[in-house]
Amino acid sequence: MPAPLVGPPTRKPCSEGEYDRPMPITTVGVVGSGIMGTGIAEVAAAAGYRVVARGRTPQSAESVLAGVRRSLDRQVERGKRTEAERDEILGRITVTTELKDLAQADLVIESVVEDLAVKLELFEELDSLCQPATILATNTSTLPVVDIGMVTGRPQQVCGIHFFNPAPAMSLVEVVRPLTASQETISAAVEFARSCGKEPVVVEDRAGFIVNALLFPYLNNAVHLLERGVATKEDIDAAMVGGCGFPMGPFALLDLVGLDTSVAILEALYAEHREPQCAPAPLLRRMVAAGHLGRKSGRGFYDYQRA
Ligand code: 3HC
Repeated sequence: MPAPLVGPPTRKPCSEGEYDRPMPITTVGVVGSGIMGTGIAEVAAAAGYRVVARGRTPQSAESVLAGVRRSLDRQVERGKRTEAERDEILGRITVTTELKDLAQADLVIESVVEDLAVKLELFEELDSLCQPATILATNTSTLPVVDIGMVTGRPQQVCGIHFFNPAPAMSLVEVVRPLTASQETISAAVEFARSCGKEPVVVEDRAGFIVNALLFPYLNNAVHLLERGVATKEDIDAAMVGGCGFPMGPFALLDLVGLDTSVAILEALYAEHREPQCAPAPLLRRMVAAGHLGRKSGRGFYDYQRA
């Protein structure tokens, strides 16, 4: 008798009991005021945490609050939340330009530019001002989390908590385990992600983790196809939506992620694996040089009306 066909496992990632070690988290610090920092602030506040979000300037700090308000307003319009819920969530978020205002946070999630030197400096500072028990997490997409942990005096309490864009809408969180992190830290990160309504997976600290290691060679190849004139960007996007059931095609997704971020991710993948498919396509670099960064700059592969 042939063996019965077995499909993919149906269990949820990180089965119950495997990573149970909740440590009390009430206040979450978020560093970085971009798309991801704003999305993470919304997710954490919506889950009931007090959030202290830090931007480098008063304008960037305020933009976090404005971004969360816009997103919640849309949810109210769609009937997903009441106005009272929106106001409650917003009331849990305070914004600041001072890193020291994160001193009371039980968990800090960094989501600044994908530049290792910037992150190392930031984590050294966070380490010096946060409580000894605080977990310091990075939302990096590709950079070595172990390097970040090792500039702190608490490498056992440093891990990756990697959200996906748009953070309020995407259910996955990659919890990244560097060699130095303790099981308690990983368990707390898993538990935190679950408490935010996300489905965490635990992944070792290798460039790209799971999703970006698979996604970005594909996105880069789409740019190569375009450069070779194989098809228009519209047709390539339509092909991947219609032929593979993806929610959006590669060029729409590159514009969503940001072309500067995409180049940084590809460079980090290339630096680690030296696979030619990860070397950023020349057109991507040229577009970044031209300031065509995608949705956030109003122009990428497509044009976007600025709100
Ligand atoms: N904030 C909050 N919620 C949002 C949102 C946002 N910015 N954008 C969309 N949503 C919600 C909507 O409210 C809606 O929720 P509902 O069904 O409960 O009402 C749902 O998402 C669907 O939104 P829409 O109907 O407006 O639009 P779409 O159906 O086109 O979905 C999308 C938009 C969720 C962005 C979808 O196109 C998608 O899943 N795209 C793929 C995104 C993706 O692959 N992200 C990963 C990028 S890689 C990454 O982030 C890694 C990093 O390291 C670079």
